[in-house]
Amino acid sequence: MISPDSLSQWMRTVVGIAQEGGEVLKKFWGHLPAIQEKNFPGDLVTEADRQSEELILRALQQNFPAYPILAEESGLSSQLSSDFIWIVDPLDGTTNYAHQYPMVAISIGLLYQGEPILGVIYNPLTAELYTAAKGLGSKLNGRSIQVSAIPSLKDSLLATGFAYDRRETPDNNYAEFCHFTHLTQGVRRAGAASLDLAYVACGRLDGYWERGLKPWDMAAGIVLVREAGGWVSDYDLNPVNLQSGRILATNPLLQQAISQELLALRSKKPSSNC
Ligand code: IPD
Ligand code: CA
Ligand code: CA
Repeated sequence: MISPDSLSQWMRTVVGIAQEGGEVLKKFWGHLPAIQEKNFPGDLVTEADRQSEELILRALQQNFPAYPILAEESGLSSQLSSDFIWIVDPLDGTTNYAHQYPMVAISIGLLYQGEPILGVIYNPLTAELYTAAKGLGSKLNGRSIQVSAIPSLKDSLLATGFAYDRRETPDNNYAEFCHFTHLTQGVRRAGAASLDLAYVACGRLDGYWERGLKPWDMAAGIVLVREAGGWVSDYDLNPVNLQSGRILATNPLLQQAISQELLALRSKKPSSNC
């Protein structure tokens, strides 16, 4: 593995890299030259995504030349074989960014033998920096954070999101959204999965579920939630699989209840409305 001292040193390096990436997002904020669509309607990519990714990749390669990187816009950096791999979302919340809605973040995670062990999530517009490493706790701007202690769905605030394939699949999460909206004090859809996870970690949200995610949406946030005392799993409480795209992240008191509701809904006929 890696010693706590080395992990702290790596964390300082990655925080510096995320902050440099943040300068790119600030530079293009409100000044985007062109916005393009990728694979699905509404799946956008901008100059800010590209330049942020270029900068982060260059810096990770300089500091950690032996480790491959999986990044949203450019894919896998190399076929290097290693126990470690960096997972990068250079701009999580691109739709928000394009509309100047300030829920955006850079998300950088590190996997060791497939397990997320370090995460940095940085929103340069709100100056919120979330950091976590296995065994070292979770922090927001240097202060320790904890998940909430809300024990019941009726008192909870949850979050979710809708993947870009939502028009093409009946498994679009609309029924789940309606269901939990009735059961809870509210369900937020802020549009940046990494921040949804960071908000669970710091107790602003009591739980979060989503489908159709990619490894770069989840890797860093998983460490944040776990190190803040939260639980992360698949919908059915099996270990989360970064390739499955499905995640449930909650305080420990709500995990069972949310999972039960999700499973009950999945066994019903899918519906595209409420
Ligand atoms: C998206 C956001 C959004 C989630 C989508 C993601 P992007 O990432 O995290 O909240 O609902 O599934 O793809 O495209 O803005 O990096
Ligand atoms: Ca993303
Ligand atoms: Ca992105």
